[in-house]
Amino acid sequence: MTLDDILSLSKRKGFVFQSSEIYGGLNGCWDFGPLGIELLRNIKDAWWKAMTYRPDIVGLDASILMHPRVWEASGHVQQFSDPMIDNKTSKARYRADNLIEERILALRNKKKTAEADAIEARLAAVQTNEDYYNIITEFAIPDPVSGTTEWTEVRNFNLMFKTFMGPVEDSGNAVYLRPETAQGIFVNFKNVMDSARMKPPFGIAQIGKSFRNEINTKNFLFRTREFEQMEMQFFIPPGTEGEWFEYWRQQRWDWFLSLGINPENLRRKPHDKLAHYAAAAEDIEFLYPFGWGEVEGIHSRTDFDLGRHQEFSGKKLEYVDTVSRERYTPYVIETAVGATRTFMAVLCDAYAEEHVQNDDGTSEVRNVLRLHPSLAPVTAAIFPLVNKDGLPEAAMKIYTELQRSFRVDYDTSGAIGRRYRRQDEVGTPFCITVDGDTTADGTVTLRDRDTMQQERVQADAIEEIIRRRIKR
Ligand code: GAP
Repeated sequence: MTLDDILSLSKRKGFVFQSSEIYGGLNGCWDFGPLGIELLRNIKDAWWKAMTYRPDIVGLDASILMHPRVWEASGHVQQFSDPMIDNKTSKARYRADNLIEERILALRNKKKTAEADAIEARLAAVQTNEDYYNIITEFAIPDPVSGTTEWTEVRNFNLMFKTFMGPVEDSGNAVYLRPETAQGIFVNFKNVMDSARMKPPFGIAQIGKSFRNEINTKNFLFRTREFEQMEMQFFIPPGTEGEWFEYWRQQRWDWFLSLGINPENLRRKPHDKLAHYAAAAEDIEFLYPFGWGEVEGIHSRTDFDLGRHQEFSGKKLEYVDTVSRERYTPYVIETAVGATRTFMAVLCDAYAEEHVQNDDGTSEVRNVLRLHPSLAPVTAAIFPLVNKDGLPEAAMKIYTELQRSFRVDYDTSGAIGRRYRRQDEVGTPFCITVDGDTTADGTVTLRDRDTMQQERVQADAIEEIIRRRIKR
């Protein structure tokens, strides 16, 4: 399976389209089509249920635009930047670290191991933008577009999108599109704790859009400029961060398994370098077609975020125990996962091409998305075997009843085998065929996507059967 297979399926079947495609597309932005939006919603629902259907976590939906001081307090204005370099001939712009990493990869592919090792050692020791520049010039790293080695100096490029609030484009009116949802949670910590009568340990969960002006977008949904995050900040008494970090790293790992993702495609990656305020941090990575990449980060962030917002806003963000009068600024364990990056992981994990034997002895390649039944965009498809003899009416009756509980499809065109294949390709776990016997004895054929086994069941038992199998 390659990234092109996933891109082609996404476009062909209506999972994901390039944004503004008829105008040539907009880099780093994607639109979710009819099937994609269902899969994305199902992933977000699964996360929301796992995180908030419990007594110690509540939800929030903060605005995307926030007071500009928020981003000063969080450190994003000063530090949320990548090292950028431009090639003087092609004018192409790169992240300096990515340019170097790709050169290392290219050298390794050409078996130039000594040079690759030397660059890698220098990259591991980088401290400043000048260090990046020196590597690029000393090793004559060429521009992948023009092949030339004339470079500008390396500059910091802030990843936040800036816009202006109100009718006047004045620097005093500048606001940012949020680059993460987390800050909306921190600034509402006290509002939520007081109104929902929570006390540490407790969490606040949020799903929403974030925006980063990434220098290079690539690999489909992996690194985009507009994306969706699902973040939860868990506020805890200081001194309990070790046990809660362990708890959340296990919970989050188990969540990916609950989505049916093959554990061989997942791994844990503790951070080598910790931010100065962090006590611990670990990523969960997925094996994408281009290699391993982060899908979620679990971070033990001490009282850094609440502390900074107290300092910048002048408002106390503490928990005060009503009985003991003990007061403290809670520590935070953060779980931060991309909804759109999880979408891509789920799609890649489910994608399969397999050889299947037809009834007549011939074989063919079957494209199938082995999505967990609870995530599949369409849960069941209903087919009348022929478009006469009362079968469409009987099939439509089943369709109408099932669509009250599930997203269902109704397909009358082509041979039954072709209809099965169409549903396999988009991951529909159940197909129901209505035939002559249905009108006689009320039974239908229920076909399983993965085993391709068919069984005869009572039409009025189907809803319960599907419900049970989705939960499995
Ligand atoms: N509040 C912490 C935070 O935002 P992050 O590691 O920068 O941490 C969390 O982002 C998750 O958001 C990532 O693990 C990834 O799944 C997703 N994410 C971050 N940048 C992204 C981008 N440019 N495109 C798609 N998803 C992204």
